[in-house]
Amino acid sequence: MELKVAKTAGFCFGVKRAVETVYEQAALESGKQIYTYGPIIHNEEVIKDMEKRGVKVLGTEEDLDKLKDGIVIIRSHGVPKRIYDKLEEKGITYVDATCPFVKKIHNIVKKESEEGKHVIIIGNEVHPEVEGIKGWSAAPVTVIQNIKDAENFTAEPSQKICIVSQTTFNYKKFEELVEIILKKRYDISVLNTICNATTERQAEAQSIAEGVDAMIVIGDKHSSNTQKLFEICANACNNTYYIQTLDDLDLNQLGSAKTVGITAGASTPNNIIEEVQRNVRINF
Ligand code: F3S
Repeated sequence: MELKVAKTAGFCFGVKRAVETVYEQAALESGKQIYTYGPIIHNEEVIKDMEKRGVKVLGTEEDLDKLKDGIVIIRSHGVPKRIYDKLEEKGITYVDATCPFVKKIHNIVKKESEEGKHVIIIGNEVHPEVEGIKGWSAAPVTVIQNIKDAENFTAEPSQKICIVSQTTFNYKKFEELVEIILKKRYDISVLNTICNATTERQAEAQSIAEGVDAMIVIGDKHSSNTQKLFEICANACNNTYYIQTLDDLDLNQLGSAKTVGITAGASTPNNIIEEVQRNVRINF
C-alpha cells in the first residue's frame, strides 16, 4: 500500500510558534501562574495536555480584568490594542505570540486609520482575529463578509479607504468583494493580507485526495479549517474519513485501498499525525 502524507498537514508557522511559546513558558517554572488569553488552538488534546502542565485559559476579557498576577500568553490570532493597555496598566507580564502576519495587519490598520483612512476588513466579524484587528484602528471600521455587506457599503465621497483581509479569508471571495467596493469609485488602497498557509493546505489536500483510494483527515471536531479540509477531500474522494485521533480510525474501513492519503487541520499536533501514519503503515 502507498501512503501519501500532506507536507502541509498540521500546525502552520504561527500556530506552531504560539504552542511552543506556551510549552516554553510552562517549562520555565517561574513560580507564576501561566494563562493563555483564549484557548491557544482548537484542539482538546493539546488544551488538556497544557492544563496538566498547569496552564489555565482566560475565557473572557472579564477574566482578565479580575487577574492580579501571572503570565499571560497572547495567542496567534492577536488581540485588540486595549488588551495590551490593560496588561500594562495592571503590571501583568505577557508574552506575545501573535502571528507576525497578523501583527502586520495591526500595524497597517493603526497607521492608515491614524492618517484618516476608513478601514474595511474583509472577514468574519465575530472571529477573534478580526476582533483583534478592529481594536488597532483609531476610528470605527467596517467589516465586510459577504456580497450584501459589500453592496450596502457607503462612505462620504471624500473619504479615503483602506481594505485589508482576515488572514484565512478565501482569496476568490476577497477578490469578488473588493471588486464590488472598487466600483463605488472611492479613493481606495487594497492590501491583500491573506496568509497562503490555508490555501496551500487546501490545494495539497485536494490534489492528494483526487489520486488515492481512501483519505484520512485528522483534526478536532470543532476546528473549522479541518471541517473545510474534510469537505474538499470528501468531494474528491468517496472514502474520506474525519478522525480526531487514532482511536477514531477503523482500519477495516480502509479495506482494499491501495493508496491512502493523510492530511490534517492547522490545529492538529504532529504526534497525532505521526501516530495515525505509523498505524496505517503497520496494518497494511
Ligand atoms: Fe499565521 Fe497564517 Fe497561521 S496568519 S497563524 S501562519 S494561517
